[in-house]
Amino acid sequence: MSQLVRISPSILAADFLNLGEELKSVENADFIHYDVMDGDFVPNISFGPGLLRAVKRGTDLPVDVHMMVSNPDEVFRDYLEAGADVLTFHLETAKHAHRIVDEIHRYGRRAAVAINPGTAVSTLDAIIDYLDMVLVMSVNPGFSGQQFIEHTYTQLNKLTDLCRRHAVRPLVEIDGGISPKNANRVVAAGANVLVGGSSVFEAPDHAQAVEDMRSAGMRGLAMRQL
Ligand code: DX5
Ligand code: ZN
Repeated sequence: MSQLVRISPSILAADFLNLGEELKSVENADFIHYDVMDGDFVPNISFGPGLLRAVKRGTDLPVDVHMMVSNPDEVFRDYLEAGADVLTFHLETAKHAHRIVDEIHRYGRRAAVAINPGTAVSTLDAIIDYLDMVLVMSVNPGFSGQQFIEHTYTQLNKLTDLCRRHAVRPLVEIDGGISPKNANRVVAAGANVLVGGSSVFEAPDHAQAVEDMRSAGMRGLAMRQL
């Protein structure tokens, strides 16, 4: 299972006026990435739980909700109630991370923690054993279309080491500036869920962009040092 490369198109870069069609255009992906931004933790405001309910009706794919909020402890249940299949919160803002993870699991959903590019991978040491997925940010969160930060490769290598030491194999999602150009290298460094915002929704053929990203990622699997 961990040998597969999964693609999670981020609808932050979609045409909001045609969201239903945009969701249908990426049905060959593995997840839909849903970015929640509160205008406080990140300098942008996006969607809340209301639109998530509509998105759930518009796709058969599992929805991967990325909460970029200052108060995850207070709001995470709203996204579980609205149907989040994978729920990600940032370690930088969680007050009681294990409690949030436990509750996500009690709902029967998958729990994930995200870290910003400037957060040390070692901060995951206390929580990694309990996670279904780790989200490594490869840009400072807030907007789609930003440039990939090269230090991300080091973050991914350190996360691979941490997982090995703990003998765990969570999914490893990478988010920000991912395209077929760098998909192979991030997969080689340990990622297996690739978020694509502008690289998918700004491409002329969205389904083809998903396939291009997947094949580039699959080439990265062969580059892994086992
Ligand atoms: C950034 C968001 C991303 C964003 C990715 O803060 O978390 O999910 O939509 O967009 P691209 O792929 O264009 O960098
Ligand atoms: Zn995201």
